[in-house]
Amino acid sequence: MLESAEIVQRFLAAKRQVHPEVVAWIREQSDPGLVDRILREAPEDAVVISSAMIPSIRPERDGVRFLADPHLEVIVGAPGSSDVISSIQDYVHYFRDRYTRLGGLVRSRVHSMPIEALVRTSRYRQQECTIIGMVVDGRTTSKGHRLVQLEDPTGVIQVLFNKNRPDFDQAERLVPDEVVGVRGKLADDGSLFYGEQVLRPDVPVGNAPFLSKEAGRAVLISDVHVGSDTFLPEAWDRFADWLGENDEIGYLLIAGDLVDGIGIYPGQEKELTISNIDEQYAEFGRMLRDLPSRLRIVVAPGNHDVVRGAEPQPALPERFAAHLPTNCTIVENPCLVSLQGVRVLMYHGRSIDDLIPLLPGTTYSRPGELMEEMLKRRHLAPSYGRRTPIAAARTDRLLIDPVPEVLHTGHVHIMGFCQYRGVIGINAGTWQSQTAFQKQMNINPTPARAVSLDLQTLAVEAFDFS
Ligand SMILES: [Fe+2]
Ligand SMILES: [Fe+2]
Repeated sequence: MLESAEIVQRFLAAKRQVHPEVVAWIREQSDPGLVDRILREAPEDAVVISSAMIPSIRPERDGVRFLADPHLEVIVGAPGSSDVISSIQDYVHYFRDRYTRLGGLVRSRVHSMPIEALVRTSRYRQQECTIIGMVVDGRTTSKGHRLVQLEDPTGVIQVLFNKNRPDFDQAERLVPDEVVGVRGKLADDGSLFYGEQVLRPDVPVGNAPFLSKEAGRAVLISDVHVGSDTFLPEAWDRFADWLGENDEIGYLLIAGDLVDGIGIYPGQEKELTISNIDEQYAEFGRMLRDLPSRLRIVVAPGNHDVVRGAEPQPALPERFAAHLPTNCTIVENPCLVSLQGVRVLMYHGRSIDDLIPLLPGTTYSRPGELMEEMLKRRHLAPSYGRRTPIAAARTDRLLIDPVPEVLHTGHVHIMGFCQYRGVIGINAGTWQSQTAFQKQMNINPTPARAVSLDLQTLAVEAFDFS
């Protein structure tokens, strides 16, 4: 068994500190590889390793040991954890938190310089260096180069990316409010920075996902849209039967748009079979009650649900959650849940609407690519002030930190996957056939799909119940 001092020393050698609760837990485990695994899996920018970062340690809450289900734990996004926006100051804190944490991920890999220090003297001209900033905006010049304004807490600078440089495609993919490092050189007159390479916060190259030691299987779905005249009840019944036949499935995760809602878009009332919001959730609750009771069901809201639209979205209020069976765990959007230690980041995915017009070559028909773009930016909704309303609080809850094993999204109603540096992205589609709006927009949904995830291998399998 490792001694406490030895455990602390090993963390210090890796330039980390460790909470005494974690030290005590490691001593109990008598697992020689454990310290190395924790160091590998802990958030890169975490100075102190706390029990909250280790899925298998249940955190202390209010001094009382929290009696959670050992197999299902809500790490981030339990009901009531989204902050109330109180003042304009929160926006300052929000962006500072975003810059500090995402910038910290880049800073851990490269030596960087504050913008003000770089431009103040002539010392650094023609010398290669890295700056880290938030993208203010960007445009393409008349010659086809890309000019981007980058801001850090000390100053703002124009960064020019030459269209003939190898990293130009990355520069074209810079979106407003994302945090990046840029390697390059300051112009002779100090007025401009010539960008050569974009350094995103990104998932570490050696990222090794956690695998459950026990057998287990989860099923991921989203966008049920109960109450809509395009909801597919027969397909849902086939899905329910299938869940009944497959005993090894222990978890069902639902990533938002549980019901169709009321007044979400003009003329919606003509497309509803249930026009009362309470009755929509009551029907959704009946459908979940008909599923096998062994399932642990995680229910997150989306933009059609009854909670505020600004993200993070709170969990369903009691009035509606009361309709759901007791094997449901209601959570916020986004949230991070651990299934036998496998961490799934659930995010409804509204920011995909913002990212598609900003990122050349992306489309609704391949949502996997957008999940990859989120992972590279370590952020679920990088651009602020577009279609995705964000509730700016003191901390940026839309950061992707820690790196999860799985990113589960929805919203676009089209099935898609990605596999990026050990992280699996899953968008399962919907339970609604093509709506009049989607027909107009030429969007072809993939309805009646569910995706199964093996918690021991992270193998993914798609099922079609249409
Ligand atoms: Fe939806
Ligand atoms: Fe949605």
